[in-house]
Amino acid sequence: MEINGCTCVCGLIGNPVEHTMSPAIHNTLASEQGVNLVYVPFHVPFGQLEEAVKGAFALNLLGVNVTVPYKSAVLPFLEGTDPLAGQIGAVNTLVRGERGFVGYNTDMPGLYRAMCEDGVNIEGEMVLILGAGGAARAVAMLAARKGAGKIVLLNRTYMKAESLAEEVNRAAGRKIAMAMALEEYSRLPSEERFLAIQTTNVGMFPKTEETLIKDEAFYRKVHTGYDLIFNPARTRFMSLVEKGGGRAFSGLKMLLYQGIIAYELWTGRQVQAELARKAYGEMKRAMGIS
Ligand code: ATR
Repeated sequence: MEINGCTCVCGLIGNPVEHTMSPAIHNTLASEQGVNLVYVPFHVPFGQLEEAVKGAFALNLLGVNVTVPYKSAVLPFLEGTDPLAGQIGAVNTLVRGERGFVGYNTDMPGLYRAMCEDGVNIEGEMVLILGAGGAARAVAMLAARKGAGKIVLLNRTYMKAESLAEEVNRAAGRKIAMAMALEEYSRLPSEERFLAIQTTNVGMFPKTEETLIKDEAFYRKVHTGYDLIFNPARTRFMSLVEKGGGRAFSGLKMLLYQGIIAYELWTGRQVQAELARKAYGEMKRAMGIS
């Protein structure tokens, strides 16, 4: 595409940002829709987040994505947040407001859109979340909002799962979430089958042989497994879910849709299924998988 005096700039701030797939998503969407927009990564040194956010606004950037380690740290430098991002306590997308950026979280709507496309239902489901960190917190809030029947938080550090369960119950206004220590997983009721969402980084490249639970008996209680990890595209967790007779999905489509929802917020345009497929292909090509 031709870069000229009217080209809008969007980008990603984080540290590191060198392995991002987002340019492949956004630049494909913009060029296919004929939008005069480029998307570039910005490596922000530690201690310079405030300057980066205010500078990006002053430079008239149309939109910004935020990644590790700044998703929560960026909050004080924003004009505001949308209610979902406020509840999750983390943002990954900044949209221009009047005097500064407004923060959104498109990770969870991205996961939800991926689930809808994959035909995975949350309403009334027994949702089992592996982990109790930032990503688990967002998934638990999403599950509560989408009407999960029950949410079990399984975590190595029980206390963290317990305080997250309390927080989710408070936000939901009902006792929907309960905590369990990871080593107690065999006490999960055998008559139940779960939608399990793996939110930790265990099993991520390069330690692809790792997984939180290796016991095959556990996986027979899982009818559908989502791993938020997208590298590798097929994790050990996913293989074990499938071996146990369940359906398994990676975090690749969540990655795609968090980008698409951000792009839609910035440009006001809708991305149809065919273009989403094309961006998915470009994203996978950038990752070296096809
Ligand atoms: P994120 O924002 O990606 O969720 P985080 O907030 O640091 O990252 O949370 C990491 C999660 O992965 C936690 O639930 C952590 O368990 P603890 O609360 O016990 O620390 C979990 N985790 C990370 N490495 C783990 C490991 N080797 N075994 C078990 N759980 C692990």
